[in-house]
Amino acid sequence: MAYETLIVEIEDYVALIRLNRPDALNALNSKMMSELADALGAADRNEKVRCIVLTGSEKAFAAGADIKEMAEQSFVDVFGSDFFTSDSEAMLRVRKPIVAAVAGYALGGGCELAMMCDFIIAADTAKFGQPEINLGVVAGLGGTQRLTRFVGKSKSMDMHLTGRFMDAAEAERCGLVSRVVPAKNLMEEAMKAASKISEKSLLTAMAVKEAVNRSYETTLREGVLFERRLFHALFATEDQKEGMAAFLEKRTPQFRDK
Ligand code: HXC
Repeated sequence: MAYETLIVEIEDYVALIRLNRPDALNALNSKMMSELADALGAADRNEKVRCIVLTGSEKAFAAGADIKEMAEQSFVDVFGSDFFTSDSEAMLRVRKPIVAAVAGYALGGGCELAMMCDFIIAADTAKFGQPEINLGVVAGLGGTQRLTRFVGKSKSMDMHLTGRFMDAAEAERCGLVSRVVPAKNLMEEAMKAASKISEKSLLTAMAVKEAVNRSYETTLREGVLFERRLFHALFATEDQKEGMAAFLEKRTPQFRDK
């Protein structure tokens, strides 16, 4: 499917979704958010996709929600349309793993979008920020909640109250990103990670995703119980038999998602 604001390529079981509004540093407008919801849903349903990579350009993953689009909107407009909410939540319904590959600016809604992915690989040029305070608003796609869980209250308050940007090294130090790579290698590294994930059993990968995400929603005791139930349940799959047999037979497993 052809999109106005995205470029989607599927190769070797990885769907690469590229945000593509270069004139506006990939600012997220309603069109892009609805196309992204559509592209993510399609990738999640597509049997030829086992992992998704979300990226932007060298200069910007996304510089935030489109300020031109928001500037004249009223409370009635944004509340009435539930601005961005249902389209951004489409990302949270995706059951396949999503890797964010971030170079350049990931600000405001851009940072929030990256945080909604399962993990972030950052180029050494990446800059993260929640500068909404400079516009007289607060984050609206979960930034005050997710950034706080990732980096702790003090740094999250600092980011949201001062609107300062965090570079890639700081983002790695405080656990916002899983790794930092030279900008020229970003896509190669992200695709390599996605390709490694796509070799696993998709059932198991989806179970990992559910279990880790559960840790944000529940107590430790309940989360551990949820994990244990998933662990036990996976013994009902052929992929568990195959994975363990392959180890014992010293060969590469052939998972069939069964
Ligand atoms: C609309 C944007 C934009 C944005 C950049 N542009 N960010 N347009 N919305 N968020 C446009 C600029 O207007 C300009 O267009 C072009 O992209 C290039 O940007 P410049 O500012 O000229 O580039 P530069 O000097 O390199 O500065 C880069 C920057 C700056 C530091 C990233 O653009 C910036 O501060 N942008 C806004 C960041 C921000 O406040 N984000 C949070 C948004 S609120 P023209 O036409 O002039 O060339 C948000 C809320 C989320 O995200 C919640 C939603 C529910």
